[in-house]
Amino acid sequence: MPWNAEQYHKFQHERSAPFYDLLALVEIRPHLKVIDLGCGTGELTRVLAETLPDSVVTGLDSSPDMLKKAAAYSAPNLRFEQGDQARLTGEWDLIFSNAAVHWSENHEELIPYLISKLKPGGQLCVQIPSNHNHISHLLIRETAKEDPFHGILGGFERISPVLTIDQYAKILFEQNTENIIVFEKVYSHVLENSDAVVEWISGTALVPYFERLGNHKDEFLEVLRKKMKLALPESPLLYPFRRILFSAKKPSGHGNHSALVK
Ligand SMILES: C[S@@+](CC[C@H](N)C(=O)[O-])C[C@H]1O[C@@H](n2cnc3c(N)ncnc32)[C@H](O)[C@@H]1O
Repeated sequence: MPWNAEQYHKFQHERSAPFYDLLALVEIRPHLKVIDLGCGTGELTRVLAETLPDSVVTGLDSSPDMLKKAAAYSAPNLRFEQGDQARLTGEWDLIFSNAAVHWSENHEELIPYLISKLKPGGQLCVQIPSNHNHISHLLIRETAKEDPFHGILGGFERISPVLTIDQYAKILFEQNTENIIVFEKVYSHVLENSDAVVEWISGTALVPYFERLGNHKDEFLEVLRKKMKLALPESPLLYPFRRILFSAKKPSGHGNHSALVK
């Protein structure tokens, strides 16, 4: 997918709040081998690397455009490489991912796969947006089904692979992980108007549509902006952004669910 670092950066300040909530779930220990899946432009990966004493961090991303920017944040304990998070290799003390895992499908298989890449005692910490039922996303899918876009997109529609918090908790439990934390939080962003919401989603949810729309992109955006203005006429506007955060540890020894509630 052609990610655009500049477009993504427009709401960097708003996007960094959930990163810090995720970072707060990380068990800080020295000498960790860490991977940041979907590291994007790398500045938050640098914060992660600076938070973990004597650790070695790799930022992994599939986008050359994002990685070009990330290169500026390289450090002796931080490197970046291109790759697919769903095909992660190696063994890690910490697998961290802020706002990226939702770009890979089939979380019933992906989350257990990521856990299988943890060393004993390793931790998985993930943050993913769960706002796929917000009106902006519904209007994207509605517009994609209308003419002429349905034909131009070849019927394409992106269905979010994001599960419910209960489902993530169940997956983590079934993988025998410990210290399971799963929660959903609404981040209240105040934006100028509905155009600003369209600007926001142009850096994320619309990316797979832009890839397929070619030079019909502006036409699609114009239709979407009109629908959004009708649906969300307020100014300033509250953009309530739901996100799921979860964390769990792979047991360091043997035994199942030692922390049974009795
Ligand atoms: C919304 S950005 C998040 C970037 C960064 N983690 C942050 O918090 O700012 C999502 C990132 O995931 C990357 N991405 C999407 N699919 C991926 C995949 N299959 N493997 C690795 N990275 C992927 C994109 O290139 C993009 O940089």
